[in-house]
Amino acid sequence: MIYNTESLLSEAIQGLHGTCTVVGDKSISHRAIMLSSIAEGKTKIKGILKSTDIHSTINAMRALGVQISNLDNDDIEVVGVGMHGLKEPSKPLNLGNAGTGVRLLMGLTGSQQITATFTGDESLSNRPMGRITEPLSKMGIQVRSDGNGLLPITITGRSSPLPISYISPVASAQIKSAILLAGLNARGVTSITEPVKSRDHTERMLEHFGVSVDTKADPNGRYRVSLTGGASLQAKDVIVPRDPSSAAFLVVAALITEDSNISLPTIGMSPERIGLITTLQEMGGNIKISNYRKVGGEEVADIQVSSSHLKGIVVPADRAPSMIDEYPILSVAAATATGITLMENIGELRHKEADRIALMAKGLRLAGVQVNETETSMEIQGTKSTNGKPYIKGGFSISSKHDHRIAMSFLTLGLVSSDGIIVNGVSTIETSFPGFVELMNKHGSRITPVKNKST
Ligand code: S3P
Repeated sequence: MIYNTESLLSEAIQGLHGTCTVVGDKSISHRAIMLSSIAEGKTKIKGILKSTDIHSTINAMRALGVQISNLDNDDIEVVGVGMHGLKEPSKPLNLGNAGTGVRLLMGLTGSQQITATFTGDESLSNRPMGRITEPLSKMGIQVRSDGNGLLPITITGRSSPLPISYISPVASAQIKSAILLAGLNARGVTSITEPVKSRDHTERMLEHFGVSVDTKADPNGRYRVSLTGGASLQAKDVIVPRDPSSAAFLVVAALITEDSNISLPTIGMSPERIGLITTLQEMGGNIKISNYRKVGGEEVADIQVSSSHLKGIVVPADRAPSMIDEYPILSVAAATATGITLMENIGELRHKEADRIALMAKGLRLAGVQVNETETSMEIQGTKSTNGKPYIKGGFSISSKHDHRIAMSFLTLGLVSSDGIIVNGVSTIETSFPGFVELMNKHGSRITPVKNKST
């Protein structure tokens, strides 16, 4: 029998059980590699995410002259080259599907006297880069692009960029981080202000490596972060927490299936990342969080989840930055709830690995769910009657369009569908959650390869 490795069928199950070990945090893994690369000395990174996005960043750092070796398990060792030690790469740096990788690296290489060209896959080549290159240009960093601010882009950095005070129109950790990394070698204070605080892993990790970062909320509730260029980073081992954005799929799978009870140990609990947990609890989700502690400067905790009757809510608009990657899986939860869920201020979703509003709306409609979308919002009519079951019509297939979170969201929806859901383009899951299908199946799901029609 020949199977199509790019397509998976997800079918209805009773529930998920057991202790589920989720992969390392993607955002933190990218930052740990980049910052240890310019530190003085050797850094061991424990529990790093071994996904294709992270491999893209590792390969790029190697091409920039950094020695990175694999240790046992999920550990790597990085030999830092110091603040001005990155070498000019001999060929373009291909970051594949990794938006965080390419955007942060443009900032990092912007403060080195080297020229580097950045490329990516079809999805990354269609994502806006002007939001990064515009502030970098203001810092005197040379940016060349064939047009429209899309990849490929060539950056010619300078050993001492101009410090800027930048006010960002969007709350984006990628914009903030690119500017901070470019500011590391600037002569003076570089600051960035964002409308709402986005994830602060860069700020935390800079502090971890010995760079002092000033943060403050201004009177309008905006968040300002600044650093003074010229400090050096000192190598210090990093422990990567498990990724709350990956855990999200198991959390929702356990909530929406009938007979589930799972625990998820050591999940990152940064306040800028756990908006989904708060939202699901407001929807009536049985989610218990215990054993809060700090791992490598980041808050972590253990999560326990069991089957729940979810009800629709209005998700507060200012919560969007703290759950920006979780709206696809939230829309799965919303589709199986009673009542309407309204998600506003989510226009950024149209600029992710794919247009996530359009794709979720398309797939949910195929599943028989009523969805209203605007440019910046989505309203989902839950299919569960007050005492009944959700009605998710299966028997259709949907393409991930190179978007890992879309693929995992529809595989999760398949667990409560009448006839199963086929997701095409599933290799993209490797970008953030290698082993997702094996982990889900180990704990009770039924996700299987699709047989080729010709056999
Ligand atoms: C990320 C920031 C977010 C998020 C992305 C990871 C990061 O993007 O969507 O998956 O690691 O900095 P934006 O900065 O565009 O909001």
